[in-house]
Amino acid sequence: MDPRPIGVFDSGLGGLTSLRELRKILPGEDFIYFGDTGRVPYGSRGRDTILRYARQDVAFLRTFSPKAIIVACGTVSANALAELRAENDLPIFGVIAPAAAAAAATTRNGRIGVIATAASIRSGAYERELSALDPALEIFPAPCPLFVPLVENGRFRPGDKVAELVAREYLEPLRTKDVDTLVLGCTHYPLLTDVIAGVMGPGVTLVDSGASCADHAAARLAHAGLLNENSTGSCRYFVSDSTHDFANLASLFLGEPVSDGVERVEIETY
Ligand code: DGL
Repeated sequence: MDPRPIGVFDSGLGGLTSLRELRKILPGEDFIYFGDTGRVPYGSRGRDTILRYARQDVAFLRTFSPKAIIVACGTVSANALAELRAENDLPIFGVIAPAAAAAAATTRNGRIGVIATAASIRSGAYERELSALDPALEIFPAPCPLFVPLVENGRFRPGDKVAELVAREYLEPLRTKDVDTLVLGCTHYPLLTDVIAGVMGPGVTLVDSGASCADHAAARLAHAGLLNENSTGSCRYFVSDSTHDFANLASLFLGEPVSDGVERVEIETY
C-alpha cells in the first residue's frame, strides 16, 4: 500500500488514452498528468530534442514525489526510455514492450503492422522488441505523421473526410501486406480506432499501445505492493499551453469531464 501519486506524461493529449485505461483499472490511485501541449509534436523531432523534453517532463513530475512514472508517449518510449530509467531511481514504464508483447500474443499469421510517429519508426524500437520475442515475426512499420495533428484538432471521428483520406493513404500499403495485427504505436491513435479499423477491415486486430502499457504497469505495481487500493483516486492535469483548449479536448479523450482543473506549467524551467 503506497499513497504516493503516479505520474503520467505525453507530448500532448494522446497519453490521455492511456490515463483513461489506468483510471479504469486503478480507481484508487492519484494521478498527475502532464501534457506538453506547448511543444507537441515530439514525433517529428530529433532524438536529442526528444530526450531533452522527456527529461524536463520527468523532472516536473518528480516534484510530486511519484511512486512511478508512465511514459504514455510512443515517441519518448522509443527514443529515451533507457536514459530516463538510468537517470531516475523509480519505476518508469514505457509503451513499446507491453504493446509488442500484446501484438506477438495476438497475431496468428506472424505478420504485424506498426504505425507510429516518424521518430518512433525511425528508432527501430518495435522491430527490436518484436524480433526479440519471436525472430520469425514479419514486421511492417509505417510512419503516419499527419495522424497526430488530426487528433489534436479533434478530427478523428468516422465520417471525417480528411481523417479517412489520410488513413487510406497511410494504411492501404499495410493492407496489401496481409497483416492480421496492427500496433497503434502512438498514444494519439486510439482516438482514430474506428477510422483505422474501417480501412484495415475486420480481419485485423488493433493493439492499443497506451492501454497495453496501462495493463502492464498496473500488474507490476500490484506485484510490488505499491498500489493505493483503499482510497478514491483523483487526477490533476498540467499542460504547457492553453488550459482552456486542453480541458475541452481532454474531456473527449477521457470520456468524462475534466473537472479537477487544469494548471499551466513553464516546462522549460525544469
Ligand atoms: N503521443 C505521441 C506518441 O505516442 C505522439 C505525438 C507526438 O508526435 O508528439 O508518440
